[in-house]
Amino acid sequence: MARVTAGVTTSHVPAIGAAIDLGKTQEPYWAPAFAGYEFSRRWIAANRPDVVFLVYNDHMSAFGPDLTPTFAIGCAPEFAPADEGWGPRPVPTVIGHPELAAHIAQSLIQSDFDLTVVNKMDVDHGLTVPLSLMFGQPERWPCRVIPFPVNVVLYPPPSGMRCWRLGQALRQAIASFDEDLKVQVWGTGGMSHQLQGTRAGLINRDFDQRFMDELIDHPERLAQLPHLDYVRDAGSEGIELVMWLIMRGALGARVRTVHRFYHVPASNTALGHLILEDLP
Ligand code: DHB
Ligand code: FE
Repeated sequence: MARVTAGVTTSHVPAIGAAIDLGKTQEPYWAPAFAGYEFSRRWIAANRPDVVFLVYNDHMSAFGPDLTPTFAIGCAPEFAPADEGWGPRPVPTVIGHPELAAHIAQSLIQSDFDLTVVNKMDVDHGLTVPLSLMFGQPERWPCRVIPFPVNVVLYPPPSGMRCWRLGQALRQAIASFDEDLKVQVWGTGGMSHQLQGTRAGLINRDFDQRFMDELIDHPERLAQLPHLDYVRDAGSEGIELVMWLIMRGALGARVRTVHRFYHVPASNTALGHLILEDLP
């Protein structure tokens, strides 16, 4: 059977993608940020997943004001990097896993999570930057990827509790797929940041550290945090953090922290990164 082997969270700032693509990762501004992923690249080379279930948010690249699903699942055989204004990033096309994605769609929808099934979609920095941070610059991505866009850019976003429960249902869905597959669930976006309005530039280190502590040890309590608290304490784009709860819901009750990293700032954002594994 398929099983969830680990959970990964990471921020997804577009400037990180540009720094990688333009060979600037060792410049003084960026070197401390990328240093936090050196362990992760070794770890994932030794713990290579067959499939990454990648929870991220689209930033008006595939969706937009005309149509924005709250939760969507990419069931296509492949997903091209999106053109976000400067041409598509020079990264490999993402190869999906249509059979597992269809199975998860059926299982989650029949468990009362109303997903939108997407059979054609380009993927933006929300998805490609986490892949670049974890895998570097390979010719091909070393595993299949199921994109799972969550709306956190158009009001109203889903609650943390909804995301947490969806993660739990996702764990069941993966465990009932009849093929031996190692599946990692990644929750991306965050941490605190605000790109707009009078509070643009907001960073909240205390909130971010507490969020990571709670996500690891008290996720059910963290899931109760109302969305206005995210916006007030972590900024308007800090609401991206609800996606980390999908990852955590897909793990067991007790987890081991394999890696934890926090760096401020990366562009306008507090960069946070976790690798978690189930404790037996
Ligand atoms: C930045 C962060 C984001 O999450 C995003 O989607 C766009 C920009 C930033 O920090 O610049
Ligand atoms: Fe974002």
